[in-house]
Amino acid sequence: MDWIILAIETSCDETSIAILKLWWNKHRHFKQVLSNVTVSQILEQQKYGGVIPGLAAKLHLENIKNVLKEAFSQAKINKEEIDYIAYTEKPGLVICLQIGKVIAETLAFYLNKPLIPCHHLKGHIYASLLETKKEWKFPVLALVISGGHTQLLYGQSHCDWELLGQTLDDAVGECLDKISLLLGYTYPGGPIIEELALTGKPTYHLPLTKLDNSMDFSFSGLKTAARLLIEKEGSELNANDLAASLQFTLARILVFKINKALSEKQVNTFVLGGGVTANQYLVNYLKKYITQRKEKIDIFIPSQKYCTDNAAMIGMLAYYSLISKLRKKNELWIR
Ligand code: KG4
Ligand code: ZN
Repeated sequence: MDWIILAIETSCDETSIAILKLWWNKHRHFKQVLSNVTVSQILEQQKYGGVIPGLAAKLHLENIKNVLKEAFSQAKINKEEIDYIAYTEKPGLVICLQIGKVIAETLAFYLNKPLIPCHHLKGHIYASLLETKKEWKFPVLALVISGGHTQLLYGQSHCDWELLGQTLDDAVGECLDKISLLLGYTYPGGPIIEELALTGKPTYHLPLTKLDNSMDFSFSGLKTAARLLIEKEGSELNANDLAASLQFTLARILVFKINKALSEKQVNTFVLGGGVTANQYLVNYLKKYITQRKEKIDIFIPSQKYCTDNAAMIGMLAYYSLISKLRKKNELWIR
């Protein structure tokens, strides 16, 4: 038996539809991304230095029909073969989420198939399971670093997640996006900061914000310190060194909070997710830190193409949610 899941992601500025084929035997899960079609609005949103919700919704409406067509054409399946329709329910820009929901509900109604509402941030975590034969060993510590969120989550099973901490103000990606704009570059800032940092050294001192006893984060002080530095240095500023210093500082803050979580919780697997996971410097820094610890912790990181928003990760989350439900009802025999 296999399942074909059609997944829709429209929470922010990417219109994405994926079709996944999923099956299993006694020993493992098998996953095939038949298509994952994403139209990004970056070029349009760049003019405004960030995502304008009304424009995002307008572009989703313009693009979604072609994205759907292309997803079916690449997957080479008929619509009758779809078993489930998954979509991003929350969090995200409300008018953008509503578009995905309406499309999902319409497809589910016409195809007479069940709907699976999914959580966007959990989707980012499940992106790390798309291209591997390995499974997480619970308990899992997950760090989501995206444009809108920064969260540490603790999972004891696929259906049991606890929020350990989150940002009280800016997200990591948001901080990079805003500093890139202050430096005179465009949105999204993350890839620009990463590129600049390649030829920079972490010579500027930036504050390690919110190194307290909690697992919450705060990055607005770091952003303000970077802004003041940019204003003070003026034309003397070395943007490459600032970018490197920023990445170094962010990496140390993240490690501090991961360390806090690992000292309080027993963890077998560490999972990273979210758009900022595309940053190779940060990923390598965090990987090195986890590997050097005395506990043996498996590390799961999505491949580059599944770090930023995409529907395949939503399909992956939907699959594991279904599997857990069936397992709970003893209708499925699998690890
Ligand atoms: O997960 P995502 O696609 O959207 C949200 O759910 O927010 O994340 C977008 C964020 C943006 O802030 C963007 O600057 C950041 O991911 N990003 C990166 C890189 N590529 C994208 N940050 C650092 N380095 C990158 N290479
Ligand atoms: Zn996202």
